[in-house]
Amino acid sequence: MQTNLSVQIRKTATQFHKTEKNGLVEQFDKIHVEQRIYLAAVMRKEIVVSGIRSTGYLHLGNYFGAMRNYVKMQDDYNCYFFVADYHSLTTHPKPEDLKKNVFRVVAENIASGLDPNKVVLYAQSDIPEIPELYLMLNMLAYKGELEKVPTFKDKVRQQPDNVNAGLLTYPVLMAADILIHRAVKVPVGKDQEQHLEMARNFAQRFASRYGDLFPEPIPFNFGNELIKIQSLDGNGKMSKSENLNATIYLTDDDDAIRKKIMKAKSDAGPTEPNSIMPDYVSNLFMLMGLMSDPEQVNKYRTAFNDCTIRYGDMKKQLAEDVIKFLAPIRDKAKELQQDETLLRKILKDGAERARESATATLSAARRMIGINYY
Ligand code: ADP
Ligand code: TRP
Repeated sequence: MQTNLSVQIRKTATQFHKTEKNGLVEQFDKIHVEQRIYLAAVMRKEIVVSGIRSTGYLHLGNYFGAMRNYVKMQDDYNCYFFVADYHSLTTHPKPEDLKKNVFRVVAENIASGLDPNKVVLYAQSDIPEIPELYLMLNMLAYKGELEKVPTFKDKVRQQPDNVNAGLLTYPVLMAADILIHRAVKVPVGKDQEQHLEMARNFAQRFASRYGDLFPEPIPFNFGNELIKIQSLDGNGKMSKSENLNATIYLTDDDDAIRKKIMKAKSDAGPTEPNSIMPDYVSNLFMLMGLMSDPEQVNKYRTAFNDCTIRYGDMKKQLAEDVIKFLAPIRDKAKELQQDETLLRKILKDGAERARESATATLSAARRMIGINYY
């Protein structure tokens, strides 16, 4: 039923673009193309865009910050999800690793429940309209503001020998990813909040110079705060390339999961009833809240409050629940990665569908800017 609806919506969108190409839209007359596109967008389901960089193995932070919401949104929104392979070039991956990483990100998303028939799933580099919009937006982005972005400053600290221009303009490319489909909601983790604010700024600047084309996209997590899963050693967010032993990857086997969780940072426990929970302990509770039975969470919360908690027991329970949660995703992802033909077909289909929307936005942007010579 839902699939039929998605197919219907896609047909309408395709017809809309075809009609526009044939010039028949002139019947709608006197409304500018950008307004027509905007109208078509609001008549359809709300547009959602999000991407994951192909920089390594996906982990619980990616899953709960982003992928879980992708799956929850796929029936009710018009979703464009992609592998941000251009973004991953800032760290110069080996060509043979890049392809493997891209295919793995696709497989892991599908194994987590994403249905390529319901969403448009594609690789960023297959959509040439994205770098073209990125170029246009770069003219509206200022060096000073880009240098102040906290993620840029972190990268300068982490890789002082490779502070390339791609790192500086990372938020501009991200804005192009989002604005190219005129998205309104962007499911991401907390670490992306500032990038979204910049995307809104670029949309506003485009509007004040050339007119309305882009809605202002907001970061999204079903009615709650955006999520941040911390690294198990208590140092910053869980991430693909740092603290490998404090990151739970979707590919980890049962033993690795047990070892990592048993080594997670904890302490001797509170000595005063109802103490404030340290960050690293609330992270364990957050993971329990996401993957364990609510009864277990309550049991350990009560034990924390009355100072009887034994973190060893809590971690054992958590490890078993994480294993139960991740094993089916891990096994399915492994199976999917054997079928490269299927993954290639999914990416090719996705690219075609993503370009339908991207070309419509870009031709409106060109015209509004004044690039309209023939
Ligand atoms: P990473 O930062 O691990 O390299 P990406 O940059 O590709 O991963 O992020 C992909 C998505 O996963 C983004 O929406 C990001 O906000 C989310 N994400 C990454 N790490 C975390 C985390 N520790 N907690 C919550 N969300 C996260
Ligand atoms: N910048 C995001 C990250 O590092 C990945 C990303 C690239 C993205 N383009 C995007 C996320 C567009 C949402 C929308 O996690």
